[in-house]
Amino acid sequence: MKKMIILGIESSCDDTSAALVTSDKEILATQTYTQLKEHSCFGGVVPEIAARSHLEQIEQVVDATMESANISFDQIDAIAATAGPGLIGGVIVGTMYAKGLALALGKPYIAVNHLEGHALTARLTNEIAFPYLLLLVSGGHCQFVIVKGVGQHQLLGQTMDDAVGEAFDKTGKMLGLGYPAGPKIEALAKTGNPLRFTLPKPLYKKPNCDFSFSGLKTAARQIIQNEGPLEGQDLHDFCASFQHTIADVLCDRTQRAIEIARSSGITSLVIGGGVGANQAIGERLRQVCDANNLDLFVPPMSLCTDNGAMIAWAGLEHFREGRHTGLDFKPRPRWPLEEINNNDFMRMS
Ligand code: KG4
Ligand code: ZN
Repeated sequence: MKKMIILGIESSCDDTSAALVTSDKEILATQTYTQLKEHSCFGGVVPEIAARSHLEQIEQVVDATMESANISFDQIDAIAATAGPGLIGGVIVGTMYAKGLALALGKPYIAVNHLEGHALTARLTNEIAFPYLLLLVSGGHCQFVIVKGVGQHQLLGQTMDDAVGEAFDKTGKMLGLGYPAGPKIEALAKTGNPLRFTLPKPLYKKPNCDFSFSGLKTAARQIIQNEGPLEGQDLHDFCASFQHTIADVLCDRTQRAIEIARSSGITSLVIGGGVGANQAIGERLRQVCDANNLDLFVPPMSLCTDNGAMIAWAGLEHFREGRHTGLDFKPRPRWPLEEINNNDFMRMS
């Protein structure tokens, strides 16, 4: 089969990112403009600021991607862009840019579900066959999914309130760590005592594989308020205890999810989303996989957090099965993985 080259565009949160990915699993180029500085003083992403920033950056991010790969637009086979879920202003910017390019170049457009981007990334970096169990842990999502095929996903459990990355970020904000707090908490935790502070583990040992993090966040707030500003070793100990509690919860929930998913024939666990960059949590999840005889796949850190390559790859997976999307497909702020409908796509003529 002829080698395909797909341009992918991601703009659903605070990164404007583009990448060129081939059907031989090469990432020819990737460029990302991160808006971190624009949001960090607010302790979270401000949707209006994000949308304007995507609009300002998208053209140069795409052009720089093409230049660094030394590829011209007529060499690409299709253009994929995140069409949801996410902050709708940014999603509209990326979608409209991709549709405009597709129309001007006469190339197919592919609407990609951002969550499916995370779900399929491990197939770009590794040889993994369907079905597999996915633990998606990001700033906006926390769920277990059986990935049965391209566009075929079964939700097993999800958070009833906050996402796990959100728990890191909100707790980090209370500690004055800025946004995003996940990597900072992980760094501080390295030299802390994980058993110093006792925090609750919501839904621990419950028979389903759902999550809940809001009680943990409230308990963290109480400790932070009672202890006064946490500094020095106290801060390290708190971060270590917080991360250790989250790791305990994720391991317990993963054990349950594996038991539930086992009959579907899964042989591996894939981690997707920004929290997958946390090495301490990854190490704990590896132990769960070893105990259950499952392979664990964690994409490299740069592909765990939001990036254009995962969107290009998910687009490519649909495209090589003969699907692309009509230009009338509307961006979706809410778009659960289970609602991807391969019939929304058009067959290649
Ligand atoms: O997947 P992602 O880049 O964006 C979303 O789709 O949400 O994930 C971002 C989230 C943030 O909440 C961030 O704090 C968290 O991932 N994160 C981490 C780490 N690196 C990023 N959380 C814990 N430890 C890390 N090392
Ligand atoms: Zn994401």
